[in-house]
Amino acid sequence: MKITVIGGGHVGEVTAQRIAEKELAKEVVLLDIIDGMPQGKSLDLYESAPVEGFDAKMTGTNDYADTANSDIIVITAGLARKPGMSRDDLLQKNVEIVGGCTEQVVKYSPNSIIIVVSNPLDTMCYVALKKSGFPRERVIGMAGILDTARFRSFIAMELEVSVRDIQAMVLGGHGGTMVPLPRYATIAGIPLPQLMSNEKIEELVERTRNGGAEIVKLLKTGSAYYAPSAAAVEMTEAIVKDSNRVLPCSAWLTGEFGLNDLYMGVPVKLGKGGIKEIIEVELNDAERAGLEKSAKHVLENSAMVNL
Ligand code: 2OP
Repeated sequence: MKITVIGGGHVGEVTAQRIAEKELAKEVVLLDIIDGMPQGKSLDLYESAPVEGFDAKMTGTNDYADTANSDIIVITAGLARKPGMSRDDLLQKNVEIVGGCTEQVVKYSPNSIIIVVSNPLDTMCYVALKKSGFPRERVIGMAGILDTARFRSFIAMELEVSVRDIQAMVLGGHGGTMVPLPRYATIAGIPLPQLMSNEKIEELVERTRNGGAEIVKLLKTGSAYYAPSAAAVEMTEAIVKDSNRVLPCSAWLTGEFGLNDLYMGVPVKLGKGGIKEIIEVELNDAERAGLEKSAKHVLENSAMVNL
C-alpha cells in the first residue's frame, strides 16, 4: 500500500501520522505546495518511528510525481474556516484547490481511491468526482464518521458512560442541515430514547450540528483536526483491510433514499475498492423531511460550481 495525503495542514499531518502509526501503508506521502513544509513534517514523523515502533517510508514533497501509484489519496487541501465563517464560505477558493489537486493526483494514480476531507465537503466530493472521472465507488467523502463521533462523544459525556459502547448514525450533508438519527443511537444496544429525555436529545443533536463551529470558535485560528483525521483514517483502514465496515460516508447518490445526482452522507459498506454498497435505512416522516432539506442545501451549493 502507498497512501498519499494532499495538504500538510493540521488535518493532513495528523492523518499521515495516524496512518503511519497504524502501519496501514508501506509508504506515506505528504504533499503540500509550501516548500520544505511537507518534507520537514515527514522527516520529523519518520524520526518518531524508532520510538513509536512503526515501519513506514515517509515522503514529504511538493511534486505530484512522488505520489505516483498511490492506492489511496486523502485530499485535505484547501482553506479552513475562521470564526464566524460557514463551510460554504470556502466554496469558490476550495473548488479551485481541490479541482487542481484532483487533476494532478489522478494523472499519477489512475487506479486510486480518493477520500475527500476538504470543505464544503459534499460539494468538494462532487468536484473530485467530476475532475477525476472515477466511478463513484472510488470518490468518497469523510464527514458522517466525524459528525457521528461528535454525537457519540456528547452522548457519552452526558450519560457518563464509555464512548466505546455508543453507536449512532448521522446522515445528510456536512453542515447545519445534517440529520442525526437519535432513533438509531444505542448504548450497548439500548435505544438512546430509553436513557435520555427528548429535550436533552434535541440539545445534543443541535450541539452535533454545530460541532465543527464549536471547535472553530474555541481555536480561533483554524478548524478541528484530531477528530477529522481519525475519521479519515477509519475509512482508510476499512479500505486497506477490506473489512466491510458499515460507516456513514458522503457518497454520490443515484436514486438511493429517493435522491439523485448529489453527494450526501449515507451508510455505506466500505472495503477493498471503496464503496461496495449503499445501505438504505428506514426513515420516518421527520427524518425524511430533514434529509430532503439537507439535499436541497447541498444541491444549491453544488449548483454554484461550474465544471
Ligand atoms: C469540522 O466539522 C472541519 O468540517 C470540519 O470540523
